[in-house]
Amino acid sequence: EKGGFASFMDKEIHDQPQAVGDTLLARTDERGQIVLDDLRIDESVLRSVDKIIVVACGTAAYAGHVAKYAIEHWCRIPVEVELAHEFRYRDPIIDAQTLVVAISQSGETMDTLMAVRHAREQGAKVIAIVNTHGSTIPRESDAVLYTHAGPEVAVASTKAFLSQITAAYILGLYLAQLRGNKYPDEVAEVFDELRLMPARIQEILDGAEHVREVARSMSEASSVLFLGRHVGFPVALEGALKLKELAYIHAEGFAAGELKHGPIALIDEGQPVIVIVPSPRGRDSLHSKVVSNIQEIRARGARTIVVAEAGDDDVLPYADEVFWVPQSPVLLAPLLTTVPLQIFACELATSKGLDVDQPRNLAKSVTVE
Ligand code: M6R
Repeated sequence: EKGGFASFMDKEIHDQPQAVGDTLLARTDERGQIVLDDLRIDESVLRSVDKIIVVACGTAAYAGHVAKYAIEHWCRIPVEVELAHEFRYRDPIIDAQTLVVAISQSGETMDTLMAVRHAREQGAKVIAIVNTHGSTIPRESDAVLYTHAGPEVAVASTKAFLSQITAAYILGLYLAQLRGNKYPDEVAEVFDELRLMPARIQEILDGAEHVREVARSMSEASSVLFLGRHVGFPVALEGALKLKELAYIHAEGFAAGELKHGPIALIDEGQPVIVIVPSPRGRDSLHSKVVSNIQEIRARGARTIVVAEAGDDDVLPYADEVFWVPQSPVLLAPLLTTVPLQIFACELATSKGLDVDQPRNLAKSVTVE
């Protein structure tokens, strides 16, 4: 069943072009308009939504963070992302104009399910982005957008994460189209870019030997920091979570802009820092700010491992290692920049002789509070 791979996780990382491709299937009509037949919420209700709250846990919550950047930009609706267990106990402000988006691979995470129930009790509509058909969360939600990642066996989430991000983009484009924030041809344009992502992910998988070499060279590391900005921030959080879960190495993800507000104190000689660099074709100030962050930490002795877009030579003077990813639109980049970090964690843990499919103390789905 592992299809010749050493672990389910390795297989599932390699399933990602297909998982993303399948999640995109049959979502548009002949004019390129997004059609979500299974969205059982009245269009008039979706037009009147004035706030979106994403509820989820762990990796699924990081998919929600990516969704926030895309949906706010495309739809001009404020999006909050809440860990489901915090949401429930916070007395959140929700009403019939609030759309709650619950993201879950298993569809059984107890905290997320409880958040869904709480939201519906307050009159909000709930859309579930879920991978497992017939699970509880979609049954208890008003609508469901299934990710088509196929069964995810490894405890650490990989292909479900990229599929969740993909589904969130689809939802964002749908809402933008419905509410008139975007013209049909603009939606079709972004969708065409999304369709190119599976091949770009495949390119990363095919060229991942350098990522593996670097990972093997770091099996003695006791702490790894991850920095990202904009959509690279949730990617940094996810990269750190993967490393904690699989390799039992202390890892922290930071927003790169926070560096001077504290984390830079952690940098000393040899401290590995993985930096996710925004595309130089995006907002120029963002790119140059992150490049100067790399320069600053390198000057203090950090070993800098940089995830950058092909052709971004600006990073070269300050990077000890570079993991290249293909060019893509800025908001879609997490579908690419996440992949080397998954491979990195998987390979590093494997080189330490650890079981990447069944990390200690973890369960695939957390059905207790
Ligand atoms: O099944 P869910 O997506 O609701 O699970 C949420 C988290 O428990 C899950 O993403 C967890 O963080 C994974 N171990 C991450 O690799």
